[in-house]
Amino acid sequence: MSDISISSVDGVQVIRFTRATKKNALTGSMYASITDALLKGDADSSICVHVFLGSEGIFSAGNDIADFLATSRGEGGLSKDTERFIRTLPLVAKPMLAGVDGPAVGIGTTLLFHCDLVYAAPTAVFSTPFLDLGLVPEAGSSLLMPMRMGYARAFEMLVLGEPFSAERAREAGIINAVVGQDLLEPTVMKAARRLAMKPPEALREARRLMRGDMTACLERMDHEVQAFRDRLASLEAQEAFTAFLEKRKPDFAAVRARASKGT
Ligand code: COA
Repeated sequence: MSDISISSVDGVQVIRFTRATKKNALTGSMYASITDALLKGDADSSICVHVFLGSEGIFSAGNDIADFLATSRGEGGLSKDTERFIRTLPLVAKPMLAGVDGPAVGIGTTLLFHCDLVYAAPTAVFSTPFLDLGLVPEAGSSLLMPMRMGYARAFEMLVLGEPFSAERAREAGIINAVVGQDLLEPTVMKAARRLAMKPPEALREARRLMRGDMTACLERMDHEVQAFRDRLASLEAQEAFTAFLEKRKPDFAAVRARASKGT
């Protein structure tokens, strides 16, 4: 089975992460499948709404860390598929919804700032541990998160690396509502179907007006991508990725010592 499943029902395209054994960590080929589905769905008049879902107990562990390590050494930065996905998000024309059960890490959370309606189970935990991985915020989150949550809460989440519970995420305006785990997918699909019944042109136009000009977001992504590329190649990030894969704590003091000796 592929790591992404795409299906459609009643005008709703469902994009489901199905790599549960790796906590739905997103690889280059998964980003490529999601981006293709979003673009195809946008061009298909029978699709009115896109929905992101994960697996039971896990939305997504974010970018695959082995992929980060491989691309930072090979392609010298962010993979082309990751960058294409990120840059597609602000340009999607039809509404995007998400249902979050369990952890939503990194892009698993920043993706939600491009969605129009997000529901979460009480098990959901939202986190953006970019700093702890030696990285910087991505997917427009350095702009969108402070705008949505206010600078103080965004700093707490993006820089301090504080995880937010479902309830805290609701208070912060990241999600619309917390619903019981059994009700999560029915709630998301009910809202998606309601949107799919609306006059499609008016729906797209209303959304376009509400979201406003995306130029600032795309420009911020240019800066983020550049900084992210530099950080991926850094000794700090390499140490953080290797430590995760070796199931140990990163040793940033050793990195500092190596850097000061110039080794
Ligand atoms: N990239 C690659 N593999 C990942 C991964 C990721 N982002 N997240 C989890 N996995 C893998 C683990 O290495 C493990 O693989 P193994 O079974 O071959 O050892 C498997 O998925 C299960 O993960 P595990 O950590 O044992 O699950 P958990 O339920 O204890 O914790 C998370 C789940 C999501 C909290 C935890 O896996 C995690 O913090 N992942 C990293 C998140 C991250 O930093 N992402 C990058 C954001 S920029």
